[in-house]
Amino acid sequence: MSSAPAARSGSDRADRPAEGAEAPGHAAEAVRSAPADRPGSAEIVHIVGARPNFVKAAPVVAALEARGLRQSVVHTGQHYDDRMSAVFFRELGLPRPDVDLGVGSGSHAEQTAALMTGLEREFIERSPGLVVVYGDVNSTLAAGMVAAKLHIPVAHVEAGLRSFDWSMPEEVNRRLTDQLADVCFATSPEAVGHLAAEGVAVDRVHLVGNPMIDTLLARLDRFDTAALRERLDLPGSYVAATLHRPANVDDPETVARLVARLHEVADQIDVVMPVHPRGRASLDAAGLAEHPRMHLLEPLGYIDFVALVRGATAVVTDSGGVQEETTMLGVPCLTLRPNTERPITITHGSNRLVTDSELPGLVSKILAGAGTDTAALAAVPPMWDGGAGERIATVLADWTSGVPAPGPRRSA
Ligand code: UD1
Ligand code: UDP
Repeated sequence: MSSAPAARSGSDRADRPAEGAEAPGHAAEAVRSAPADRPGSAEIVHIVGARPNFVKAAPVVAALEARGLRQSVVHTGQHYDDRMSAVFFRELGLPRPDVDLGVGSGSHAEQTAALMTGLEREFIERSPGLVVVYGDVNSTLAAGMVAAKLHIPVAHVEAGLRSFDWSMPEEVNRRLTDQLADVCFATSPEAVGHLAAEGVAVDRVHLVGNPMIDTLLARLDRFDTAALRERLDLPGSYVAATLHRPANVDDPETVARLVARLHEVADQIDVVMPVHPRGRASLDAAGLAEHPRMHLLEPLGYIDFVALVRGATAVVTDSGGVQEETTMLGVPCLTLRPNTERPITITHGSNRLVTDSELPGLVSKILAGAGTDTAALAAVPPMWDGGAGERIATVLADWTSGVPAPGPRRSA
């Protein structure tokens, strides 16, 4: 398979904008390939690179595998430490990547340029029929841009999430990827609305549920908090914490403030924190470890991490995925951010946005049995039922075989 990817033909249709979409100046939305142009037998290539990608891709790859579709997994190497990458392949049943581009770390421009160069070479060689990208990391956007310019169709899993905060690199990545994608898979209804408002054609959008939750629900019997406690010598009750957003861990003054607040939490209850490599140096420098009830760990593998979260009295985080996992597990989640692209974890879950100054007081309320005030634990987000990978595979199987895919699905 070394031929150049097929260009879209003159029979391309002009997609109709989504219902209710305001698309000024876009009477006809982007021209995209008609089913007949899609090479039915060609390979589906999944692009993964960073920790959250692996958790999202696993159920999609498995569901496509079960249907016997030809596929391969390209690892960009954005994350490369065993604890940030290989452990997920071992634990989640992901096939060993067919190739690892070994891109590694760098500034946004350096990393994105290296990603694009490596992916372009790979795509020209493989000539995939479809590229599937996940979430909102630099690997996601780089793959979307390269594929679009090679006229290779793109499917985006976890499309339409919006924090409306352009200072976040993830907001840039997810918005641009959605514009490039031929097929958008949304994890929650408001994401469908955001895509419509941005003029994404309705027939490109599918509400399918959350593959990250598929991964969690399929392994519920493996998250053994008691065994983890014993193995890692953890306290009986604790708050679990993770921090890695640039806005929280890059600026020394902010880090010093957060460390002081985490120590105020540790005055009340032990804090167990697997430290993301991004924040390791700055948190160390600010003396994070200098409290007898702070337990700092290396990043955990997926099974250990979810076991830690499941057994926590509360979670303090700035992670996207952890907001979703706590929602499903019913663990109070205090998110140290001014906004979230996952508001459904507040309306249907246990999440609450907090400032650092609110944090110690809210933890003491939780310890007093007051919950997080906003916990809406009776409701589970629609379609967060373990079936997202299957739904995605159904759409992709139809799509690659030239059958027009169904429109957006909404929960009953
Ligand atoms: C990336 C994503 C972020 C996602 C996060 C999940 C972008 C722009 N950011 O952030 O959206 O929430 O992954 O974890 O894509 N490092 C290591 N070992 C590794 C990987 C990284 O030590 O295996 C260190 C390096 O010093 C690197 C830094 O972490 O410079 C940041 O890594 P990078 O992938 O650029 O961004 P993350 O902060 O991990
Ligand atoms: N995770 C893990 N070990 C850890 C921290 C996180 O296995 O020490 C998992 C967890 O399931 C989480 C996912 O990795 O949902 C992605 O987490 P991260 O916070 O790195 O990325 P984000 O979701 O913020 O993009």
